[in-house]
Amino acid sequence: MTVDLVLKDGIVVVRDRETVLSVSIDRGKIEGIYKHGEEPESRKIIDSRGLYILPGLIDMHVHLRDLDQCEKEDYETGTMAAAAGGVTTVVDMPNSNPPVLSRKVLDRKIESASAKRYVNVGFYAGIPKSIPIFERSIVPNILGFKVYPHSPLTKGTEYTKKRIKDCLELAKENDLPLLFHPDSSKKDDIADDQEEFFSIHSCESEVSSLQAFLDAKVEYEARMHVCHVSCAATARLILKHRAEHTLTAEVTPHHMFLSGGDFAHDNGVAKMLPPLRSPYDSKMLSQALCQQCAIDCVASDHAPHKESEKLAPFLEAASGIPGLETTLPLMLTEVFEGRLMWVDYLRCCCSGPATILGISNKGILAEGYDADIVLVRKEEWQIKGAHFFSRAKITPFEGRRVLARPITTIVGGEIVYSNGRFVIGPGIAGRVPVRKG
Ligand code: DOR
Ligand code: ZN
Ligand code: ZN
Repeated sequence: MTVDLVLKDGIVVVRDRETVLSVSIDRGKIEGIYKHGEEPESRKIIDSRGLYILPGLIDMHVHLRDLDQCEKEDYETGTMAAAAGGVTTVVDMPNSNPPVLSRKVLDRKIESASAKRYVNVGFYAGIPKSIPIFERSIVPNILGFKVYPHSPLTKGTEYTKKRIKDCLELAKENDLPLLFHPDSSKKDDIADDQEEFFSIHSCESEVSSLQAFLDAKVEYEARMHVCHVSCAATARLILKHRAEHTLTAEVTPHHMFLSGGDFAHDNGVAKMLPPLRSPYDSKMLSQALCQQCAIDCVASDHAPHKESEKLAPFLEAASGIPGLETTLPLMLTEVFEGRLMWVDYLRCCCSGPATILGISNKGILAEGYDADIVLVRKEEWQIKGAHFFSRAKITPFEGRRVLARPITTIVGGEIVYSNGRFVIGPGIAGRVPVRKG
């Protein structure tokens, strides 16, 4: 038998141990994993000596800004950033302009992403103010619902206990997770100074929002996913409710590796929601992820904005930072410096998000799984926003030393990116939309 591609003699992680093996790929799937000399014949070989062969990341929380904010990012630059960052699947949030609250908008997003994609793209939908108008025909094309209690997608929507219950019920009926941004501030809570901004979006606000959702959830078996946990107290509350297998959570690299005190906050370089917290919170988030398993996965919350919006004075600056090109280097630096085990890396960056989203053919490097793969070199380098493929080039990780670089990214068996260049055009590799199953 002749397969399409063999990644020959790379480093594969098997039961937490690094082993030299080859991975063969055929018709978009992983055909097998072989010892040196036992590989099948192949049409193409990539000499992978010295490179790690890893499953591509699944980033379940990104904002790619299509349709009407393409000056910030679009599906083309956003998925190029993903591929260059070793991320082979992204799931796009619905707080775009226009927001995803109808079939029409989702269909337009699917069409745009299909033409511009370099990786797999999945979608979430928001929930209309009036739930009966929700168009059920969109369910097969989404991977979850996302709600923003502090900043609803439709003006005047209030996240009362009744509204939260109705949203959970909708998620349950459609067998999808309900993702939410925990923040109990109100849209008209306007900060007059920096201190007020941090107190409006405090840990107390995050915890009380989670508590309100947990209270509403008691009667339901709905699946609930807490986005970007940023406080030690939130992680503790999640751990307490963890027995309920229906509760999952994510953490961002910036909340684990940066704290608010590292920045003067003259401008918006390190402004995001939730904000950066204390060093204690960061430390506890890392523990919650890898020791207590209170947090299931890592997601970047890639939230691109224009340079002028980020360099504006702090209160006027836009919230959100790019993350697609920094997650893999930052997380693998943890592995290479001995703070994170391979099993935890593979769970939180690859298989964990696949499980939450129900995409059972992705996230694992094994026979029969989709050939979404990244080859990584262990190498010291410094993060430089100017080198990002994302349109958003301002990062609070500027100058940070990291120890891993994605070299080649393969999506559905197609080589998309290699050594700093794109080897195919848009609209060829990957699936849009990513569906459950
Ligand atoms: O900082 C943030 N930016 N937090 C969010 O929840 C939204 C995001 C955005 O869309 O810019
Ligand atoms: Zn959010
Ligand atoms: Zn977000």
